[in-house]
Amino acid sequence: MKFYVMTLFPQMIMEGLNTSMIGRALESEKISLEAVDIRQFSENKHKKVDDYPYGGGPGMVMQAQPIYEAYSSIKNKIGKKPRVVYLTPWGNVFRQEMAEDFAKEEELVFLCGHYEGVDERVLEEIVTDYVSIGDYVLTGGELASMVMIDSIARLIPGVLNNDDSATYESFHHNLLEHPQYSRPKEWRGREVPEVLLSGHHQKIEDWKLEQSLLRTMEYRPDLLENCLLTDKERDRLNKNQNIKKKCRKILAKNDEM
Ligand code: ADE
Repeated sequence: MKFYVMTLFPQMIMEGLNTSMIGRALESEKISLEAVDIRQFSENKHKKVDDYPYGGGPGMVMQAQPIYEAYSSIKNKIGKKPRVVYLTPWGNVFRQEMAEDFAKEEELVFLCGHYEGVDERVLEEIVTDYVSIGDYVLTGGELASMVMIDSIARLIPGVLNNDDSATYESFHHNLLEHPQYSRPKEWRGREVPEVLLSGHHQKIEDWKLEQSLLRTMEYRPDLLENCLLTDKERDRLNKNQNIKKKCRKILAKNDEM
């Protein structure tokens, strides 16, 4: 996957993503990242990229021309019209399913806005997806694009150490991840749940599934609306009276589906 980020702050993107897992994936060329400096494409002699809004109002608006030229340079480089994500609080709220969909692309282009906004005409001309990372307002799209790149990149084979871990965790068919424990067995009087030390594979799997369901019920009951259990998981829940009682609603809903 090749990520391109059109921004007025290329350093923020490159430095922000150059560490940890994503940094390693860049180094090993599992993914690539190019921050395209919109200012470099300004035709203005002072490299100005913004101007006053028509009709008045506060702040400045990013002009269409430099953004369009930055986009054209990327389009020419890759030889086709890419998918272009504009980061904005009024976009569709980013979710795991969206990350999975974006991860299928060969190239992905992000446009980071600033000031009071971007001239609507360039958005109409180039943007394919309007995305928000949540219901709050950031000073610009850079952090939002970095959040998206991080979550999309980790779905690309070879980016995580262990290929299993991208699917086997929070939001794997809409359940939150079960609690995790490591050594020591006891810490400040708190014990690791007995079952995890039992070596009994089946019981451990049952416990993990139960904890995932209980955690989702407690913290994100909204996710259960779209939680689809596998046949194996349903069988396991049905066999265990204790879990069955607690998770009756989920099982009933899955039986209907
Ligand atoms: N730009 C400003 N706020 C944003 C948000 N919440 N999501 C995406 N881009 C933004």
